[in-house]
Amino acid sequence: MTQMNTRVLLARRPAEHLVAADFAVDTQPLRSLQGSEFLIKNLYLSLDAGFRQWMNEGSGDNYLESMPLGEPVQSIVMGTVVESLNDQYPVGSIVMGRTSWEQYSIADGSDLMSILEPDPGVELHEYLCSLGPSGMTAYFGIMDIGQPKQGDLFVINAAAGGIGCIAGQIAKAEGCTTVGIAGGQAKCQWLQNTLGYDQVIDYKSAEPFEQQLQKVAPEGMDIVYDNVGGPMLTTMLGQLAENSRIILCGAVSQYERDGGHEAVGNMWELITKRARAEGFMFSDHVDRYPEAIDYITGMLKSGSLVSPVNWSEGIESTGQAFVDMLAGNNLGKCLIQL
Ligand SMILES: NC(=O)c1ccc[n+]([C@@H]2O[C@H](COP(=O)([O-])OP(=O)(O)OC[C@H]3O[C@@H](n4cnc5c(N)ncnc54)[C@H](OP(=O)(O)O)[C@@H]3O)[C@@H](O)[C@H]2O)c1
Repeated sequence: MTQMNTRVLLARRPAEHLVAADFAVDTQPLRSLQGSEFLIKNLYLSLDAGFRQWMNEGSGDNYLESMPLGEPVQSIVMGTVVESLNDQYPVGSIVMGRTSWEQYSIADGSDLMSILEPDPGVELHEYLCSLGPSGMTAYFGIMDIGQPKQGDLFVINAAAGGIGCIAGQIAKAEGCTTVGIAGGQAKCQWLQNTLGYDQVIDYKSAEPFEQQLQKVAPEGMDIVYDNVGGPMLTTMLGQLAENSRIILCGAVSQYERDGGHEAVGNMWELITKRARAEGFMFSDHVDRYPEAIDYITGMLKSGSLVSPVNWSEGIESTGQAFVDMLAGNNLGKCLIQL
């Protein structure tokens, strides 16, 4: 019997704010494998805010092409190989890679595909969370660019998201005092009570963000972990300590803008504060993943890392779950369970 595959397509270019109607659910028969392809039955889909950028017309860059209309939306996925023409990916392997929002994926081993050898002491989905792209991004950003020292003041925005949750706890484990920035009072309380942030800033509260930042960092911030970009980054650059490090990880405030990113101000501060701002992509560090995985697995096993997941169920829920994540309605890493 022909196996059917339900997928979520990018149906049209989003207007300023992404809505679930920008996606369409579509079921098609699976084609047969060719060459060295293998078939993955996906277990989990990872929702990553960064992919929003490549849904826009003409958004292709040196990292990814603009996503084509009428095709399944790109995503990091984890699943089990159920059919294979590729000796390196035998049936039964658990794999992770970049394919799409779909129940089954056909892959050939490219696009970040790798076989997992999961630690039996760790839940499998962690390899998409703290031990996956979010954890790798948190770890390499902090260790390589942030270079934390005991007593540093570490401030991160989008602090309750997939990367933010893990990054705040790694910085704390490295001896930093941590400040998490998020939208909403309940979310900020959760940051303190569940994730152990020392202080929080609710950027959506009536008190101006700049004023709140001055209160938590009167002497300036030593490490800024920036997931947001735009005007929030501009404000943060105005509150740096000397010799501070700015980890340029993402610009989620800019992905829904038509016509490119807003200019970031306060760059002069980098000069007088002898500060260093550096961008990076987690995938630059594939060779060093084992180092990060050892470190984070140690935290998970010792119970010193909370790794919260914002679960949604079923392929049909994927579009709305992605919209909700961008709107900030998530606590932790967003995953779809298939
Ligand atoms: N460099 C890399 O290798 C790499 C890899 C993966 C992801 N990233 C980047 O990391 C960032 C976080 O990604 P994620 O997948 O972990 O997503 P996430 O943090 O789980 O979700 C995005 C969060 O961003 C916040 N947000 C949305 N619009 C905002 C705005 N205008 N101003 C301030 N905050 C806003 C929302 O929380 P609030 O409630 O706080 O608003 C939302 O929950 C993204 O910028 C992404 O592109 C970088």
